[in-house]
Amino acid sequence: MTKVDKKLRTVKVDTLKKVEVMREIYNQNLDMLGTVALPYRSVEEQVQWWKENKQYLRAYLFEPLQQPGEYVGFITLTDRGSFATPILAVNKKAWGKGYGSEMIKAYLKLAHKPLAGSQLVSNDAIRHMNKKNGWIVVGYANSPNGALELVYHPGVSAAFPGTPGIQAIITRYLFDKYQGSAYPKQKKGQSERKE
Ligand SMILES: CC(C)(COP(=O)(O)OP(=O)(O)OC[C@H]1O[C@@H](n2cnc3c(N)ncnc32)[C@H](O)[C@@H]1OP(=O)(O)O)[C@@H](O)C(=O)NCCC(=O)NCCS
Repeated sequence: MTKVDKKLRTVKVDTLKKVEVMREIYNQNLDMLGTVALPYRSVEEQVQWWKENKQYLRAYLFEPLQQPGEYVGFITLTDRGSFATPILAVNKKAWGKGYGSEMIKAYLKLAHKPLAGSQLVSNDAIRHMNKKNGWIVVGYANSPNGALELVYHPGVSAAFPGTPGIQAIITRYLFDKYQGSAYPKQKKGQSERKE
């Protein structure tokens, strides 16, 4: 088994300065993050988003061990009771260096429970990474940004393992949230769309 060298340090988001770093990375990646329609955020909107949501989520920035303060990406983890939902984004300038892979492993540990997510079918990178790290597709949906796969992870915590019951809860949550189903769906109005 190959051991992956740790390249990053995890830094908890606990100041508005770090919230602002998250905003920059978020705004850069809207097209790929957007499994629901996500808006560009101004400084004020980001601060408001943080104030409204910080009680429900944990957020972390990542800095290379060799370049402290040069934040290359962020994750958020929202606790939803028996499971968590993550968001992950890497600064575009830092793509392709293995950071995203390390950050997935970090959030699986930090979540400490099973997880629910969604991924754009057009996002080859995240589909490859999620599959490699144990996410499985449990359903399909459509979004303003394109076809989605709805995904489940049993988590990496021995104390809170994914059970068939939790997988069923997560699948229901994802189907409700995205109007998903067990099979790929044709997007409504697709055949009627004008050129
Ligand atoms: C997806 C994302 C996190 C990848 O981060 P990254 O740091 O560039 O990823 P890594 O360098 O760790 O590469 C991870 C793997 O994906 C592969 N990969 C990268 N880009 C790829 C692409 N376009 N198509 C297929 N595979 C790709 C790499 O080859 C690597 O494979 P390996 O582990 O088998 O060697 C980054 O592109 C990103 O932030 N995208 C925008 C936000 C986003 O999509 N978030 C996820 C949706 S919530």
